[in-house]
Amino acid sequence: MNTSKMDRETKKLFVRQKFTSVTNRYDLLNTVLSLGIDHLWRIQTAKALSDIPPGPVLDLCAGTIPLSIVINRQIGRPVVALDFCLDMLIYGKERIKGARWEKEISFIQGDAEEIPAKERHFAGATIAFGLRNLADPQRGLFEMYRVLKPGGVLAILEFSRPQNPLFATPYFFYLEKILPIIGGIVSGDREAYEYLASSIKAFPPPQEVAKMMEKAGFNPISFRPMTFGIVHLYVGRRPA
Ligand SMILES: C[S@@+](CC[C@H](N)C(=O)[O-])C[C@H]1O[C@@H](n2cnc3c(N)ncnc32)[C@H](O)[C@@H]1O
Repeated sequence: MNTSKMDRETKKLFVRQKFTSVTNRYDLLNTVLSLGIDHLWRIQTAKALSDIPPGPVLDLCAGTIPLSIVINRQIGRPVVALDFCLDMLIYGKERIKGARWEKEISFIQGDAEEIPAKERHFAGATIAFGLRNLADPQRGLFEMYRVLKPGGVLAILEFSRPQNPLFATPYFFYLEKILPIIGGIVSGDREAYEYLASSIKAFPPPQEVAKMMEKAGFNPISFRPMTFGIVHLYVGRRPA
């Protein structure tokens, strides 16, 4: 499914429907399909926020809140988890019922491109596997900058295209041919996993993502590949 020709509202509707349909199987498939490495990526993302001003952290496109939990455990900050898919948030809320950190995570159903928060409110912001899903990622980045305090840090975890052809060829075969079959059987929505492959291919390369962060005002910005370049971690600070 190629969403690049969709208008903004159509893409939003499509993305929200796809995540609603895979909610119950989302975490399981993530762990199985990444062999558990996704948890290590999230730990690195949370650690990128170790030097931030006092205050809460905003986890955008939080889904079933796997990163929100890791942030609270790694850096001990309260987290606001925002997503526009209510089913994903409800699943996440159920998941932490009775846990020690239950009260440390609060929930907002909202749009990451129009964040319902005051300017300069958050000490840190994160978005894991979410920027690629936004209908207008640049607009989302402007919003992330707006809600961060001066000195606050944004950490973005996102899929990218591995550069080494020896790895990239079998990886894209897996992504385009095998993953939709497994994802389709387990979640019941093969199209959601076809969309995953096509959205990874359509997403801009790391240098361009960094330029978009720069355009939003972040400075300095750094980015680094993880696991053969399957994902990149981008970190940008709102100047003090
Ligand atoms: C791939 S999931 C990522 C979930 C989680 N961050 C993780 O690490 O697994 C992407 C999430 O982005 C959400 N999303 C996509 N576009 C959004 C938008 N414009 N505003 C808020 N949430 C959005 C989807 O509903 C979905 O839950």
